[in-house]
Amino acid sequence: MAITAEIRVGETKLELPVVVGTEAEVGVDIGALRDKTGAITLDPGYGNTGACESAITFLDGERGILRYRGYPIEQLAGPASFLEVAWLLLKGELPNAAELAALVAAEKANRALPAHVERLLAALPQQTHPMAMLSSAVVTLSAAYGEGDGAIAGLPANQLRLLAQLPTLAACIYRRSQGLDFVPPDANRGYAANFLHMMFAGTAKATDDAAIATAMDLLFILHADHEQNCSTSTVRLVGSSQADYFASIASGVCALWGPLHGGANQAVIEMLDEVVRHGGNVQWAVGQAKEKGSHFRLMGFGHRVYKNFDPRAKIIKVQADLVLGKLGQDDAQLDLAKGLEQAALADDYFVQRKLYPNVDFYSGIIYRAMGFPQEMFTVLFAIGRLPGWTAHWNEHNAGKARIGRPRQIYTGKNARDFVALADR
Ligand code: CMC
Repeated sequence: MAITAEIRVGETKLELPVVVGTEAEVGVDIGALRDKTGAITLDPGYGNTGACESAITFLDGERGILRYRGYPIEQLAGPASFLEVAWLLLKGELPNAAELAALVAAEKANRALPAHVERLLAALPQQTHPMAMLSSAVVTLSAAYGEGDGAIAGLPANQLRLLAQLPTLAACIYRRSQGLDFVPPDANRGYAANFLHMMFAGTAKATDDAAIATAMDLLFILHADHEQNCSTSTVRLVGSSQADYFASIASGVCALWGPLHGGANQAVIEMLDEVVRHGGNVQWAVGQAKEKGSHFRLMGFGHRVYKNFDPRAKIIKVQADLVLGKLGQDDAQLDLAKGLEQAALADDYFVQRKLYPNVDFYSGIIYRAMGFPQEMFTVLFAIGRLPGWTAHWNEHNAGKARIGRPRQIYTGKNARDFVALADR
């Protein structure tokens, strides 16, 4: 039976069209609401607002489902490579062997940054947060690459270049912050292995262990898209003004930085360090998180959409065990995180609010074990999220592409007369 919707605003009754997605998600189209009734909807935080129709990623928070272009995340994380997943997100289908070979070759051939980026990073204070360096550098790539630069390996040239150069940029940012010389990309290494090489070559953290590069690649896959999250919505919104691709992506980097979004992976480690300062007492942290006046949240816990579990967190938890075991590292921090998870999941406050560990809860522990300082964690998230941001930017611009321009309910002063300075 067709689903119908109607709304009554004062004396006006309006039948509203209903849009049903391929997974039976129901959207009430309120496009005529203001014209016909004078009213708008009010939904701060957009918890009930669909900003677009999208064919990229499906997420069911109640059932803990995440699929890219129909493929369950559990089937991609492992057998697929990050570049394969990037292609899938961007093109809608998995690449065939020839397409993947061309993409891999093009990625290797386009890793070098334009000359100005090195000068830009050198001009920034050494203590600049890596996310500030990243957003600054990404936006200036528009100076080197235009929208109409043609295609490379089946992708818009500027998008392929950013995919290839983001790891180089991230490694340069890290090395700049450490006062180390930049390490040029190595075309004999794959995407993740080359990134780890550019990051750590010549330092005590260098490793050629293929399992670590595989884990890095898998982490990128897990972060590759998550439908209309804060940074992706930002990319779409900025893109809707027809801003340049690099400007749109740089705005996504800025949105990701916040601790309620991608910055949570850094915040989790800071929180675990604080628990250690409280004698490793996980109940202290749980108690603080429940105490509204404390402004303390369990970082890496809770999600706007997932109300069951975050499927990415499940995969990452297994990886944390593997990577720490592989690196032979002391896993006191992992044990502490597991203890905190257990304590929170047994607590009524978290049960009632359906708060579960999210993607950021265990990822920082792996990154730290790999040798990344915590300020770099959100940069790693950004590398992973780039294909998602780009796919959404493309989708938005290929569609009817109206500029994003929400309304508001004004709560300020009513009209009043200007008062001359002498009379105030
Ligand atoms: N610790 C303690 N209480 C929490 C937490 C938490 N981490 N998350 C939510 N709550 C409580 C919140 O106080 C509220 O309680 P009440 O109903 O008594 O007022 C209730 O749960 C609902 O929370 P909300 O803030 O309305 O939920 P939201 O959907 O607006 O926020 C969130 C989602 C992810 C921002 C939030 O859960 C949070 O701040 N988590 C910690 C930060 C974090 O881990 N962020 C990463 C998210 S996943 C990856 C990503 O997006 O980058």
